[in-house]
Amino acid sequence: MDIKKIRRDFPALWKKWNGKYPVYFDNACMTLKPTLVIDAMNEYYTEYPVCGGRSIHKMAKKVDEKVTESREKFRTFLGASCPEEIIFTKNTTEGLNLVSNAMDLKKDDVVLTTDREHNSNLVPWQVQAYKRGIKHIIVHSNPDNTFDLDSFSGLFDRNKVRLVSMVHTANLDGYTIPAKEIIKIAHDHGALVMLDGAQSAPHKHVDVKALDVDFFALSVHKMAGPTGMGVLYGKHHLLEELAPYIVGGDTVSDTTYEGAKFLPPPEKFEAGLQNYGGIIGSGAAVDYINSVGMSNIEKHEKRLNTIITRGIKDFPGLKIIGPAEPSLRGGIISFTVELPKGGDAHDIALILDETENIEVRSGAFCVHSWFNYRKCEAAVRASLYLYNTEEEAHKFIDVLEKTIGLFSP
Ligand SMILES: Cc1ncc(COP(=O)(O)O)c(C=O)c1O
Repeated sequence: MDIKKIRRDFPALWKKWNGKYPVYFDNACMTLKPTLVIDAMNEYYTEYPVCGGRSIHKMAKKVDEKVTESREKFRTFLGASCPEEIIFTKNTTEGLNLVSNAMDLKKDDVVLTTDREHNSNLVPWQVQAYKRGIKHIIVHSNPDNTFDLDSFSGLFDRNKVRLVSMVHTANLDGYTIPAKEIIKIAHDHGALVMLDGAQSAPHKHVDVKALDVDFFALSVHKMAGPTGMGVLYGKHHLLEELAPYIVGGDTVSDTTYEGAKFLPPPEKFEAGLQNYGGIIGSGAAVDYINSVGMSNIEKHEKRLNTIITRGIKDFPGLKIIGPAEPSLRGGIISFTVELPKGGDAHDIALILDETENIEVRSGAFCVHSWFNYRKCEAAVRASLYLYNTEEEAHKFIDVLEKTIGLFSP
């Protein structure tokens, strides 16, 4: 990987703040955008900024052509069987909500999640428990936050599990669950599986067919793409079975005063005029990632994670969340701090930013449930991507050490 060249592709890395370049380590929240993506969107907004799917004039046809191209790019990116299995959404949250609302879940149907879900794969099930009386059961992790396959498989003997909906790679600590084994066990017991791929799809090769996963949701803004864009993959026959969710224009082929004739997937789920600039930019994001190579990205992040983990693991008062082994945590290093002279996760994040423009996340990362269960308030998270460098990793270690020193005797 030619990091220097890659960095030239991301204009946000060239802008100085208070005279210094940013060290952007908040990629699990949102990644920066390369010029390829910005240019693709600019082309839409300057040359053919019109609707797709409806009108038959030249500009509209161009939009349709570009949307079809983007859908095909995601089909290949995820290894789906056909483009109709790719639904454009605005983010992972929308994809997860779509399935939780559109699946014919009934009272006492069981949905399993992990104990480390982002609120976007937790609250939808709590709402379904309230609305439809489903049972939401949490599979607790091993003490080091790895997946407890035995306790997971044991749950099928005692419960009517309809769906397993789990975070593939956790934004909490970067750990990836053994999805293939989980899916096999679930399918053997007649349950479907949905993966929250918000943190896996941008960082590792995902092949939905090889995994045999039923639904897979991702956010394109976490993979070098435009903000407000996501994708939901679903096996075609399952998408056909899902009820429509958000309905209206473009979801139907015909209506009368009495009823409507729904279109097949994906149109059935893409209601109203779409974020065409975003869809086109999303296709460009796939091109960009492919040009770098997913396995290169994964290796690069693990290398940087190893440097950072080795550098900070013995800092007094600091505790890394998740497995000790950095290669099991992809590009994420989260840690809690308990310092003799006070100073919490937010103080650390603020000082890193104010002194050296090191931009990390602090708080509960939308995984409040995990923190509340452990009576812990907040942590710091550094999350890496393809443009981060070894130099930045060393800088982070040095500045973090100095920052922690401010709160130590
Ligand atoms: C694991 C995980 N799931 C779901 C989400 C929700 O993503 P979005 O806000 O793009 O819908 C995030 C966002 O940080 C995430 O990290």
